[in-house]
Amino acid sequence: MHKIKEELENKNILLGVTGGIAAYKALEVVSRLKKLGAEVDVIMTEAAKEFVQPLSFRSLSHNPVIVDMFSEPKQWNVKHISLAEKADICLVAPATANIVGKIANGIADDMLSTTVMATNAPVLLAPAMNCNMYSNPIFQQNLDRLRGLGYYLIKPDAGYLACGTEGKGRLPAPSRIVENVVEQLTKEKDLTGQQVMITAGGTQEPIDPVRFIGNHSSGKMGYAIAREAVKRGAEVTLITASTSLQPPSGIEIIQVETAQQMYESVMKLQVEQDVIIKAAAVADYRPQVVAEDKIKKDESELVIKLERNPDILAELGRVKEEKLLIGFAAESEDLIANAKDKLSRKNLDLIVANDITADDAGFGADTNRVVMISRTDKTELPTLSKEEVANRLLGRIIELLEGTGEKNGD
Ligand code: PMT
Repeated sequence: MHKIKEELENKNILLGVTGGIAAYKALEVVSRLKKLGAEVDVIMTEAAKEFVQPLSFRSLSHNPVIVDMFSEPKQWNVKHISLAEKADICLVAPATANIVGKIANGIADDMLSTTVMATNAPVLLAPAMNCNMYSNPIFQQNLDRLRGLGYYLIKPDAGYLACGTEGKGRLPAPSRIVENVVEQLTKEKDLTGQQVMITAGGTQEPIDPVRFIGNHSSGKMGYAIAREAVKRGAEVTLITASTSLQPPSGIEIIQVETAQQMYESVMKLQVEQDVIIKAAAVADYRPQVVAEDKIKKDESELVIKLERNPDILAELGRVKEEKLLIGFAAESEDLIANAKDKLSRKNLDLIVANDITADDAGFGADTNRVVMISRTDKTELPTLSKEEVANRLLGRIIELLEGTGEKNGD
């Protein structure tokens, strides 16, 4: 508690409160943050005022509460800019579908949406709403878009909702929201100064102008690593095969299609990297000849002759020098033995053995189940979100960079 208080003292927290029944819980959030020594400014939307009086927030935050963009200014500075600049973190709790939609689509038409757009501080959104609104695909797409752009989300709880239904959409307890704020504010930028290259997605090997050989990689694992690495201060290059994901911001993105193109981009940029993480699912083979026109069907069998693609990871292992090289191994049998074999054959520092037999792991899933294997040890992780797997992996990479975990060849 004492440590947390030290961390939060003098931190400026901007709290946006939007119009949902859970707005009353934001009062306790303010009270808890103040007790931890933080400075709290509150912006309410017009709709939020229908649920809780600004006076309550003013009394707890000891600061004027801002609602109206155009009220007579008490200071010379432009309020939405000054609050945006002052904030160490911006929390929106509860965040309605409306504010999430506005932020995701660049609409800035009131004090809160304008300030969120103007801030460089991390933004933490705590959505709360009716469960059908929460699961609405348009809302979920907005969340995905924001996640991809580096916004942080506090997942709602499931349970009895104010509208009388049961489901996902409850604002979590104020203590959990405050925990999330503390976690964000105390997160170390422990990859500052490190150049990190990540590959993601599944390569596509053309057969003719309309067909290709591909795989089920969605890119979620590689993108999660890229997002988390940039949050931890790394300079990230993401070499990505085609996915339907929103490119993360603050990252150099190189789009490729085939394994050969990925090989060329990776080899061109590998020299300047400190860490390379190969989460992409790369096709080992490609059609020897790509038909110029769409192949027509007839009564005979079609035989497509395949030739080997370069093994990018093995090539990186050959030229690796001081950099850290991390591979993934997607395995459906003999997980550990096969991963260990790739670790030594491809001259890696770490391999992430990925059990792809379970529904909640591997290709396409939002969660993953992996074992991290180095030359000296192995760490088995439970089923975790891909973001959490990314963070555990980056934590292990930092140990290897600091020499607290043995590096290959040491
Ligand atoms: O994208 P998602 O839907 O989130 O799924 C994530 C994932 C399952 C794709 C990911 O977690 C994963 O396991 N990626 C590696 C998939 C794979 O191709 O594994 P592999 O065992 O075939 O290859 C081993 C390693 O060599 C990988 O790091 C791969 O990038 C690399 N490789 C493979 C072949 C090749 N020609 N060149 C390579 O560099």
